Amino acid sequence: MPRTATLLLCLCWAVQTRAQQAASPAQTWDQRYAAEEYLYGKEPVEFLRAQIGRLGRGRALCLAAGEGRNEVFLAQQGFAVVAVDVSARGLEKCQALAKERGVQVQTVKADLRDWDLGKAQYALITDFYYYQPDLFPKIIAALKPGGIFIMQNFSLDQPATNRFGPRDPAYLAKPAEVLAAFAGCRIRYYEDTVVQLDEGMHQGAGAVIRLIAEKPR
Ligand SMILES: C[S@@+](CC[C@H](N)C(=O)[O-])C[C@H]1O[C@@H](n2cnc3c(N)ncnc32)[C@H](O)[C@@H]1O
Repeated sequence: MPRTATLLLCLCWAVQTRAQQAASPAQTWDQRYAAEEYLYGKEPVEFLRAQIGRLGRGRALCLAAGEGRNEVFLAQQGFAVVAVDVSARGLEKCQALAKERGVQVQTVKADLRDWDLGKAQYALITDFYYYQPDLFPKIIAALKPGGIFIMQNFSLDQPATNRFGPRDPAYLAKPAEVLAAFAGCRIRYYEDTVVQLDEGMHQGAGAVIRLIAEKPR
C-alpha cells in the first residue's frame, strides 16, 4: 500500500477511535458531580433569589437542574418542581438536598437535546447555565399563557472574563439569538452584564445574560 494511503488510514482510525472515546454529557456530568460536595453550592443563583417575588406560583419546570440548588429553593418557595437533567448523580444529589430541606422535587433523567417539554403546562420554566437555543421555542410552547421563563447563562464575553464556564461559543449565550427567540413574549427583564459570582466553582466576575420573559396571555 502506498505510504500516503497508509497514513490516511491511520489518521481515519485515530479520529474514529477518539470519537468513540468521547464521553457523553451524562458520563461527563456524573463524574463532575461524583464528590459529596456540591459543585455550585447549595444556595440558588442570586438572580433567581432576587426575582422570586415576580414569579407567580404553580408548576415549575427546571431545565438542566444539576444538583438541585435552584429547584430546592423553588420548592421551598411553594412551587411544584419538576427537575430535568441528564446526570443521574446530579439528580441523586438534588433529592438529597430536597430531603435535607424537607421539600419534594420530582426529578426526571433526560437528555434535553431530544426531550419533549410538552405544551402549555408550566407557570415557570428555569434555565441556569445550560445554553441550547433550539430549546427556546419549545420553552415558550411549554409555558402556560402568562407563564414566565427565567434564565441566566454565560455570554460570549465569559472566556475573556474568567476561567470558569464554557469556552466553546456554541454553549455561550448570544444577545441577538436570545432576544429574537423571545420577541413574541413580554420581556420583563433583560441584562447583558458582568456580575460577581459566589456559587461554588463560580467565584468572581462572570459575564452573563439574564432574562425574564412572559408568554402572552
Ligand atoms: C453548569 S451545570 C448547571 C447546573 C444547575 N443549573 C445549576 O445552576 O447549578 C449544567 C447542567 O447541564 C446538564 N446537562 C448537560 N447536557 C445536558 C443534556 N444534553 N440534557 C440535559 N442536561 C444536560 C448537566 O448535567 C449539568 O447539570
